[in-house]
Amino acid sequence: MKNISILGSTGSIGKSTLEVVRRSRQFRIIGLSAKSNIALLLEQVKEFNPQTVAVWDRDSADRLKKMAPKGLRIVTGMEGLCETAACRKNDLVVSSLVGSVGLIPTLAAIDAGIDIALANKEVLVMAGAIVMAKARAKGVKVLPVDSEHSAIFQCIGSGRKEEVRRIIITASGGPFVDLPQAKLRTVTVRETLNHPRWSMGRKVTVDSASLMNKGLEVIEAHWLFGLDLSKIDVVIHRESIIHSMVEYVDGSIIAQLSVPDMKIPIQYALTYPARAENRAHFIDFSKLKNLSFGLPDRKRFPALALAYQAAQKGGTAPAVLNAANEIAVHEFLEGKIGFLDMAVVVRSVLSKHAHRKSPTVAQILAADEWARVQAEIFCEEIVRK
Ligand SMILES: NC(=O)c1ccc[n+]([C@@H]2O[C@H](COP(=O)([O-])OP(=O)(O)OC[C@H]3O[C@@H](n4cnc5c(N)ncnc54)[C@H](OP(=O)(O)O)[C@@H]3O)[C@@H](O)[C@H]2O)c1
Repeated sequence: MKNISILGSTGSIGKSTLEVVRRSRQFRIIGLSAKSNIALLLEQVKEFNPQTVAVWDRDSADRLKKMAPKGLRIVTGMEGLCETAACRKNDLVVSSLVGSVGLIPTLAAIDAGIDIALANKEVLVMAGAIVMAKARAKGVKVLPVDSEHSAIFQCIGSGRKEEVRRIIITASGGPFVDLPQAKLRTVTVRETLNHPRWSMGRKVTVDSASLMNKGLEVIEAHWLFGLDLSKIDVVIHRESIIHSMVEYVDGSIIAQLSVPDMKIPIQYALTYPARAENRAHFIDFSKLKNLSFGLPDRKRFPALALAYQAAQKGGTAPAVLNAANEIAVHEFLEGKIGFLDMAVVVRSVLSKHAHRKSPTVAQILAADEWARVQAEIFCEEIVRK
């Protein structure tokens, strides 16, 4: 029996993880967490009977206390998330919060020597060097949940690291892959959230449409697999059947394929190194008409190039990219700025940033805070124009 806590259990990845847990007898849920979705959290508590739940929002926690079963420990804020993550009973923590809030609790779990199933890519984007060094020092496994990174993880064992020529991260291209630049200017929030292949949380869905998600994934892969950025390429593959590939120096390419369903990489991270039976999800090759490939259009989707640039700079630059993007996505979802404004905001904040090499966690958090303020100011200027 593997004891698991899920940070962000009410989100898209959190709910899929609980579906995997529901159909297996291998896992026991120790901790769950939500920001404010108390109704769903309470349902999850009743079904999975955790010892602890972390609720970010104190008012929501107070409401939950009135309805929760006796004996349930309810903790709040960042302290509560860290306590849930670092509980010694955990064998694995599923890190599936969205955004920078996941960094400190993920580090708390690693500090406690607990393996991580990582969905929250922003953690590695902000502080990949620190997170991976700490994981190595503590002997902690960081198991990828993102379908692309799970694919690479499964393919990269086919050769030695020095034999890898490059990794190829696939991208569906999102809902606007064929839309001309002029039309991108006026796309609505509703159109942006209508992803052709995946059903995900709102932030990652917007990032997928702008290709910022691919940029964040490039940075995530750089840290997870210890590969130079020059060895990480992105290819548009609309069908989302090939989840990513590893090309070796002899010209062989190893790919991982499956139907697009996040429960497959989630389950692999939970059962690793074993594979568990999966009766529902197999490719039917008689129905697969075409697998297509193309290169991303970096002009129409400048977020990808911005992410490569920030990653090349290193230090605090990726954290600044991420924080500015979080604000820009929020303002876009609120209807305050347009789709193309998001990359403009990120570029502007990055250009003003006094970049710091080899930062500490505190310096990364300070850069994150600074970038949020700058991005908010810039968004206000856009609104006023
Ligand atoms: N969804 C996917 O298919 C997918 C695939 C690959 C990678 N990922 C990555 O996985 C991560 C999670 O994505 P998602 O789509 O599952 O996100 P999501 O649906 O928005 O869920 C986010 C979860 O985090 C909680 N949360 C949000 N802000 C919080 C805060 N400030 N403090 C504490 N808890 C907070 C939410 O609680 P409430 O419900 O109470 O708001 C929810 O449980 C992201 O980094 C994303 O890039 C997602």
